[in-house]
Formats: sequence, C-alpha cells, structure tokens
Amino acid sequence: MMRQKIIIAIDGFSSCGKSTLAKHLACKLQYIYVDSGAMYRAITLYFLKNNVVVNNKAAVESALKNIHLHFMFDELLARSIMYLNGEDVEQQIRNMLISEKVSEVAAVKQVRTFAVQQQQNFGKNKGIVMDGRDIGTTVFPNAELKVFMTADISIRVQRRFKELHVTDKNITIEEVKNNLEMRDYIDTNREVSPLRKAKDTIVLDNSSLTEAQQLMIALQWSNEKINSLQ
Ligand code: DC
Repeated sequence: MMRQKIIIAIDGFSSCGKSTLAKHLACKLQYIYVDSGAMYRAITLYFLKNNVVVNNKAAVESALKNIHLHFMFDELLARSIMYLNGEDVEQQIRNMLISEKVSEVAAVKQVRTFAVQQQQNFGKNKGIVMDGRDIGTTVFPNAELKVFMTADISIRVQRRFKELHVTDKNITIEEVKNNLEMRDYIDTNREVSPLRKAKDTIVLDNSSLTEAQQLMIALQWSNEKINSLQ
C-alpha cells in the first residue's frame, strides 16, 4: 500500500536550523523541500535592484507582476536553488544586505499574498516540507505535522556567524546578533501573519542537539503521524 503523504510545516526564529532540518527531513521522506524564506529574499533582491519602495503600494504591486520565482534542484550540490526571473540568485540572497532588508519587505501585505499563494500551490499534492515563519499558521493551517524550532540566541548567533564568515571575512558577531534580533522583532510584531506558534505545533529546542539528533526526532514524529493516517 502507498504510504499517505503529509504536509510538514517548520517555523521558528531566524537561524534556528530550520532549513537544515527541513532539507534533511524531506530527503529522508523523499518529499519536496521548500525554503519559503528564499522567496522573500529573492523578492527583496528584486526590490533593491529596481529601487522599489516598500510603502509605495502601486510600485510594489507593479513590481510583483514582474517577478517570477522558481526553485530548481541541483543534483551536484544536492540542494534546491532559488531562481529570480530565470537567474540563479542563491548566492546573492544570502548576503547581509538582503538579511537587513528582508523582514521589512516580508511585512508588506501584497508581498505576503503573492508568496503565500505560490507556497500553497507547491503543497497541493502534499509530500512537502516547508520552512518559514507562518507555514503552520497561514500557509498550511491544516498541515498534519507542525514543528516550531527554537534555540538559545547565543547559539544561533554563533551558527550564523560561522556560515557568513566563509564568504565575508569582515563580518562581526555584533552585526550578526543585531540582525537576528531585529529580524525576530519585526517578524514577530508585524501585522500580517506574524511569527507565532500554531496551537497544534510541537516545539523543538535544538540548542543542545546535533543535526543528526534533531533529524531523528523529527523523523520519528513524521513517521508516527504518517502511520496514524494509514
Ligand atoms: O528563513 P530566512 O531567514 O531565510 O527568512 C528570511 C526572512 O523572510 C525572515 O527574516 C522573515 C521572512 N520570512 C517570512 O516572513 N515568512 C516566511 N514564511 C519565511 C521567511
């Protein structure tokens, strides 16, 4: 008998390791993985390149009409790559400039409507793991499994710093900490679908877990859920 497919929503603060877990979980279950944050980052890149001002509603609406986003799986890198209007923007969207602006762009109602609609479309056949801030509350309120990830701020800062330092030797711990705190603040306090724990979410604090350990836990939750539906 075919195993029933489910939707897995992984939400949480910035740099909690959501993408790492979501990616590995999707790989184990042979599900699609969608990094919803990459979509907001790509939209931010487009806005910056085209001088779109976020509080100019008409400019935002017309810019969104010109934005085409898609993911493509790179077999060699074993990860999915974000494309903006046909261009691979994976590297560009990870830099600090985008991280500084993205929460502001992601707080705009029209931007969220645009992204959420595409995210819901990705999940129409289930068999998907998506990570973000509002996946369990807004994108897939009926997701069969919802995980809310959290970790100590000092650990999150260290992890992000290590990641960014590879490509930017000038980056400081202070800069990374300020950016994470600012994004958490904006993401939690914005008007449209703020970062919240869905009422039926399971909290996963990975402060003292290895990647392998967190994967084992999430895989067990997923399998329990899938088996309960057979
Ligand atoms: O997951 P990330 O750090 O790459 O996300 C970048 C930003 O995008 C994050 O600071 C808030 C926003 N975001 C969002 O508002 N909703 C999502 N579902 C995912 C990301």
